[in-house]
Amino acid sequence: MSIIYDEKQKTITLHTKNTTYQMQIDRYGFLLHLYYGKYAEGCMDYLLTYYDRGFSGNPYDAGNDKTYSMDSLPQEFPSLGTGDYRTPACIIKNPDRTYCSDFRYESHTIKDGKYSLPGLPAVYADDKEAQTLEVVLVDRVTNVKAVLLYGVLPEYDVITRSVRIVNASGGHVSVKKLAPACLDLVGGEYDFITFYGRHAMERNCQRMPVGHGVAKIGSLRGTSSHQYNPAIILAEHDATEDAGGCYAMAFVYSGGFQSEAGMDQYSQTRVLMGFSEEQFAYPLKAGEEFQSPEVMMTYSPDGLAHLSQNFHRCIRTHLCRGKYKETVRPILLNSWEASYFDFTGESLLKLAEQAAELGIEMFVMDDGWFGKRDSDLRGLGDWKVNEEKLGCTLGELISKINAMGLKFGIWIEPEMVNEDSDLYREHPDWAFVIPGRRPNRSRHQLVLDFSRKEVVDYIYDQICGVLDQGNVEYVKWDMNRSLADIYSATADSQGRVLHDYVLGLYDFLERLVNRYPNILIEGCSGGGGRFDAGMLYYTPQIWCSDNTDPIDRLEIQYGTSFIYPSSCVGAHVSASPNHQTMRVTSMKTRGMVAMAGTFGYELNLNELSKEDKDEIRRQIAEYKKYAALIQRGQYYRLTNPQTDNQGAWEFVSEDQKEALVQVVGIKKHANMTVDYIKVKGLKENTMYRDTESGRLYNSTALMEAGVPKPVLEGEYQAFQWHFVCEE
Ligand code: GLA
Repeated sequence: MSIIYDEKQKTITLHTKNTTYQMQIDRYGFLLHLYYGKYAEGCMDYLLTYYDRGFSGNPYDAGNDKTYSMDSLPQEFPSLGTGDYRTPACIIKNPDRTYCSDFRYESHTIKDGKYSLPGLPAVYADDKEAQTLEVVLVDRVTNVKAVLLYGVLPEYDVITRSVRIVNASGGHVSVKKLAPACLDLVGGEYDFITFYGRHAMERNCQRMPVGHGVAKIGSLRGTSSHQYNPAIILAEHDATEDAGGCYAMAFVYSGGFQSEAGMDQYSQTRVLMGFSEEQFAYPLKAGEEFQSPEVMMTYSPDGLAHLSQNFHRCIRTHLCRGKYKETVRPILLNSWEASYFDFTGESLLKLAEQAAELGIEMFVMDDGWFGKRDSDLRGLGDWKVNEEKLGCTLGELISKINAMGLKFGIWIEPEMVNEDSDLYREHPDWAFVIPGRRPNRSRHQLVLDFSRKEVVDYIYDQICGVLDQGNVEYVKWDMNRSLADIYSATADSQGRVLHDYVLGLYDFLERLVNRYPNILIEGCSGGGGRFDAGMLYYTPQIWCSDNTDPIDRLEIQYGTSFIYPSSCVGAHVSASPNHQTMRVTSMKTRGMVAMAGTFGYELNLNELSKEDKDEIRRQIAEYKKYAALIQRGQYYRLTNPQTDNQGAWEFVSEDQKEALVQVVGIKKHANMTVDYIKVKGLKENTMYRDTESGRLYNSTALMEAGVPKPVLEGEYQAFQWHFVCEE
């Protein structure tokens, strides 16, 4: 039993293998948060301290007891209007136009299995792997209910949270703010770790102390965004990769979001994760319900590596779905950086021939194959194959590519429309434009109103019409701008449109996944602009960044690794000098960095030297040798490429018998010092052989003293060790 209700103490305890989460229904029916941390049994309400705190209100039921105040008590689902003046998890506009919600416990149920969320992505598990707790809270005046859902996956040390607002008030209400996850910690001091960035430089890691005043990150872009990733870590000040308590939250959602962290007047920490408040006001008529997406949470008492590994395992095996979730992905060649819009059927076939010759397994035709799409000025929305450009039908092109022994993949961007397209000329009202205003353009395109079913249905039919023309085995789903000018002609309230858009997107993806179970879908949004746990439910890999420079990628992939597994990280070898930075690096270095994700190539192979082609053949053979370890192994960050001389990381097999350590030099000086890379996760005091050199090493020494990185000539040199246990 992972969920235990103690009738006497009125506690509900959620146990995972290594962690415990506890709440209590207190004497007035408030649902208090007691504990989230290392596995512990018993009642933790001794953590609560009651005394007369100045200027903190008391609920009426407490009578003359001035020691009881929601302003200082830790809560599961704080709302506005109970005397808690901290930032709330929920604000509801009531039928009487007030904003007060006083949620009290009504009932709870415990069930085997993990709840699912209709129309939304969610962690899944069978009845033996998970339990669900449902706690019904009610505002006794309005009758609006908040149904809190907790999914507990003991083996993964993961707890999920979602909330359903039920409007049993008899009138209209509007959900103004909703954060399905709240974590109130009465003691301790923490750092707020967030992942900020920009197009082509996503998920940089920032660590700052939680202080007085609320620090907030989020996205107003209608997507999860390049600028802030919808995932955070709260770590004790001294927590490192290997020690210290830390919590992580990841929003399983691909739209706007916000996460807030701050200390209250008593230096207690509150962290929230949920919808972005701006542009959100979800109307509920009498009897209607609103189901929030969920937040995944995990806790590690032993530092950040373990924390990331908890999420990696759970995301890989219980969020990603389909045929490819556990399979090693095909090594692909993508045509984008090889020829951008400038190709013909013939040039693609020439590229494919070379790819097949080198041992690449799949050819992906990127943007430019449809409508009048010879530049980014036009064509989006017209999902008709440009047979003139290809010199044949799509079916013929695919057959020719298949005949070379290659799988075939294709790029699409279903959510978008160019003003210069037949679709826009026919249905201008299908794009987000506010009547009477001129829309914001971005990459010359507008966003289709996917909150409207007829728009989703139409584009879905068009896309299926393309995919049905041949043996398509991979789709790259792109999305190349942020949403703006939010106005939907058919919506009863504009405050619901952004969320309904995301539901429309999920509906499309769900249909696609079901209709084409053998197609591998890779998500993309100008690279990693929608790299979130929500998308991973539909697309088990996401193009990590439009930046393919291996040295920049060290930082991007480092930041990404805190939350997301390598099996999700789209990474390709591209040309040198690199197209985004003009940096020159060796084929070996580019290969090593790309191998730390779903491996592929994205360059004109026909322009390469014989040496580079030989290196590619060697790389492909090597990747195949290590791919299963990379995809399923435990991931360790060995350095911080934002500050260290090297980028270094490691994959360790679950049985600890094998480890691959990869290092890429970043800083180079004359008369260079030697860097020692401390290996992690091996069995203690056991001999391991490096299969690359044949040399034997003691594992404890490898982990304590490290292994010296050879001082190699030249910049950005790559080096690796493959340790195999000798036992
Ligand atoms: C985005 C993607 C790229 C490429 C182009 C095509 O920028 O991130 O990989 O597909 O669009 O237009």
